[in-house]
Amino acid sequence: MSEKKYDFDSGIDRRNTCSLKWDFCEHVLGVPDVIPMWVADMDFPAPPEVVEAIKKRAEHGAYGYPFIPRSFWTSIINWMKMRHNWEIKREWLSRAPGVVPALNICVQTYTAPGDKIIVQSPVYYPFFSAVENNGRRVVKNPLVYKNNRWQMDFDDLKRKIDHRTRMLILCSPHNPVGRVWERQELEALAEICLKHDLLIVSDEIHAEHVYKGHKHIPIASLSPEVAARTITLTAPSKAFNIAGLTTSVVIIPNTKLLNLYKIQLENLGLTVNNIFGLVALEAAYTHGAAWLDQLVEYLEGNMEFARRYFEERIPEIKFLKPEGTYLALLDCRALSLPQKELNEFFLKKARVYFDEGPIFGEELVGFERMNLACPRQTLEEALRRIEKALSELRV
Ligand SMILES: Cc1ncc(COP(=O)(O)O)c(C=O)c1O
Repeated sequence: MSEKKYDFDSGIDRRNTCSLKWDFCEHVLGVPDVIPMWVADMDFPAPPEVVEAIKKRAEHGAYGYPFIPRSFWTSIINWMKMRHNWEIKREWLSRAPGVVPALNICVQTYTAPGDKIIVQSPVYYPFFSAVENNGRRVVKNPLVYKNNRWQMDFDDLKRKIDHRTRMLILCSPHNPVGRVWERQELEALAEICLKHDLLIVSDEIHAEHVYKGHKHIPIASLSPEVAARTITLTAPSKAFNIAGLTTSVVIIPNTKLLNLYKIQLENLGLTVNNIFGLVALEAAYTHGAAWLDQLVEYLEGNMEFARRYFEERIPEIKFLKPEGTYLALLDCRALSLPQKELNEFFLKKARVYFDEGPIFGEELVGFERMNLACPRQTLEEALRRIEKALSELRV
């Protein structure tokens, strides 16, 4: 582990900086003084190495059409090898202005209207809209909560595949349930997809935030057969807090699938990258490892802090500690509040703002998703607010 040199305790004031997370509650919901713990970005500045690279580029002054240098691609290849032990090739790589745009492009490129696409709910809600908005049909293969852990239901999956099923969209690690899928689970899933000729679109944007005892395995790294039918979507955006720079990575080892992807990218006119995104990605993947190691340790500390706080002082709410991602589910069903009242309680009484569970699927009625990527002090203040509001609710 690298020596400690980065400060995650101070955070950064993000109010009135065009931050969706921070400015939405006051300017759209009309509720001031809320601690926002919803949309998945972090209340830490990006690594200083990334900020420096962006500053240097900004100082240059000319921001015309960018050329993607070889070093950009090399930084991605090196990162995948170093962090995920996955050897990828330059010829497999493409890009997108975001993982969500890439998801939509995959649906458009590899399936036809009316085709069925499997998603493992509850899941990041743009998975549903990428399918439905493009006129395809969502087939849910719900995760089941067994032995204190969300698990895939392979029998249900096999039953649901038919001649119109073309694709499975995997979330790995999984938002919002926080699972880091194990090799056996990925192998079992891949075997079913191979057998039924399904393409796998694997959203691995949360790959870099994985806690002790767990290891992210890119599903395409399982075997050449799996790689040949997998489109991996990733980005440095979650890991390094640079989502606003809209630069994502698409990895497609199968040449035919890659060419189809590139044609659709061109058809949509998405051929120009954000120049600061290019610079930030390369700086993050080249110089960001030590910062990231320290960040993950800090986030794990936040998870443990919250787990203990809920257990000791807010036992009515069950904190489901994730294996990866900086997002955690709160099981609030014991409060017996209808979802709307539950949301109102958190926003208006406790003055913390979460993503409400059901946006990820009906499986999460009575749940909220909490984003813990903030300084410990902010987290503590949020927990105190919840504790206080609950004590008033009980009276
Ligand atoms: C699973 C998952 N995929 C994609 C995204 C967003 O990706 P992008 O901002 O690159 O479109 C998020 C953001 O929360 C996410 O959780």
